[in-house]
Amino acid sequence: MATPRGEFSSRFGFLMAASGSAVGLGNIWGFPTNAASNGGAAFLFVYLLLAFALAYPALMAELIIGRNARANGITALRSIASGRKSRIAASLVGFSGIVTVSLILSFYAIVSGWMIAHFLDAVARMLEMQKVADWLTTDESTRNSIFVVLFMTMTVFIITAGVRNGIEKWASRLMPSLIAILILLIIYVITLPGAADGLRAYLVPDFSRITDPALLVDAMGQAFFSLSLGVGTMLIYGSYISKDENLPVTGSLVALLDIGIAVIAGLLILPAMYAALASGVEIFDLDGNLIAGPGLIVSVLPALFSTMGGIGLFVAFAFFLLMTIASLTSSISMLEVPVAYGVEHHGFKRKWAALGIGIVITIISLIIVFNFDPLFDMVVTFTTEVSQPLLGFAFCIFVAWIWRRNDILQEIKQGCPDVENGLFWKIWPFYVKFICPVAILTVYFQ
Ligand code: PFF
Repeated sequence: MATPRGEFSSRFGFLMAASGSAVGLGNIWGFPTNAASNGGAAFLFVYLLLAFALAYPALMAELIIGRNARANGITALRSIASGRKSRIAASLVGFSGIVTVSLILSFYAIVSGWMIAHFLDAVARMLEMQKVADWLTTDESTRNSIFVVLFMTMTVFIITAGVRNGIEKWASRLMPSLIAILILLIIYVITLPGAADGLRAYLVPDFSRITDPALLVDAMGQAFFSLSLGVGTMLIYGSYISKDENLPVTGSLVALLDIGIAVIAGLLILPAMYAALASGVEIFDLDGNLIAGPGLIVSVLPALFSTMGGIGLFVAFAFFLLMTIASLTSSISMLEVPVAYGVEHHGFKRKWAALGIGIVITIISLIIVFNFDPLFDMVVTFTTEVSQPLLGFAFCIFVAWIWRRNDILQEIKQGCPDVENGLFWKIWPFYVKFICPVAILTVYFQ
């Protein structure tokens, strides 16, 4: 059944949607803490290198496959496969992407639920509703379940409205607000006592760490997670870009926005942590490492905000609003992957596909909530450290080894007629063919 496909109305709309997918908890929470526990600016340096050298080419591969096929991940990969075996591999990779992204969403919804709860906690305290505030900040399964359901409802609501009226409209509203809140928070936090130590921890490199394999693995995982690669989100957003759009330029803007916001977020989180230290909050764990896990966001930073008096309520409000926005613009891109498949492949109505798939993912989230200790870390590790890099590898193989070079060129030429003479076409095909797969596997097997 032919359903009319959505398309982003402008380059700005696509940029907001794609950078909204990329900019998420991974940038504001994951990147700064990874950097701080891996040699500060040494990590930043390796990250920038890997993000531009590995993640950007892989991002381009997804965008190009998507725009060429104008279809969901499975159909798109199958359309570039030529033989029976490669078509089976295409279905397998596309299907694994759908499963992986659904699992990522199932843990992402839990963490995003915490962000909403802490945001509402600030509101409750402004209204002097102390009992409500206490409940909102108590980590227990009922509260977590309620906020998973709330967050998934918001995600389903946006996806139900479609590409232009849902994804593009909301990303174009939310992303500029996110950037504004981030900058305001940095300006405030950087003036706090102790903040300068945080800047030092972030920006002074400890180059002795640079050859540490753990640093490389962390930086690559961070880059892939941050650019939402390997699971078909960028492919599906690419499939909604106009054929007149210049893909190499648009793709590099997405990468720059994502990397830029991660680097800027470091200017907020690390000064905030050291400001917390200066006001007596413990920021190191028993092994002497910076607290980087959930404790950072749900205990260290709230403890800092509560030392600030009245203004701390507004800072907490702004910070958790920022985190909620960042989560939501990412979660919609995740849900769009299976929904687009359901709509295009099975002929479901968008509304029912979004609702049905949303319910299934919510149930998986709730199973994790009620079995948090054995399941949460396992799902995070499996999806982000095993599945995502392997799928990113598979996308590179599809583009560079299975798709015909001339067909790729024709696709990029739409919207970028001179591509053949430019730097992009001189470097990128070689890169995705040789450098990316080898580098991904090398780092992976570290
Ligand atoms: N890029 C998002 C972040 O940095 O938080 C996470 C993410 C979004 C991962 C979408 C995967 C995905 F498909």
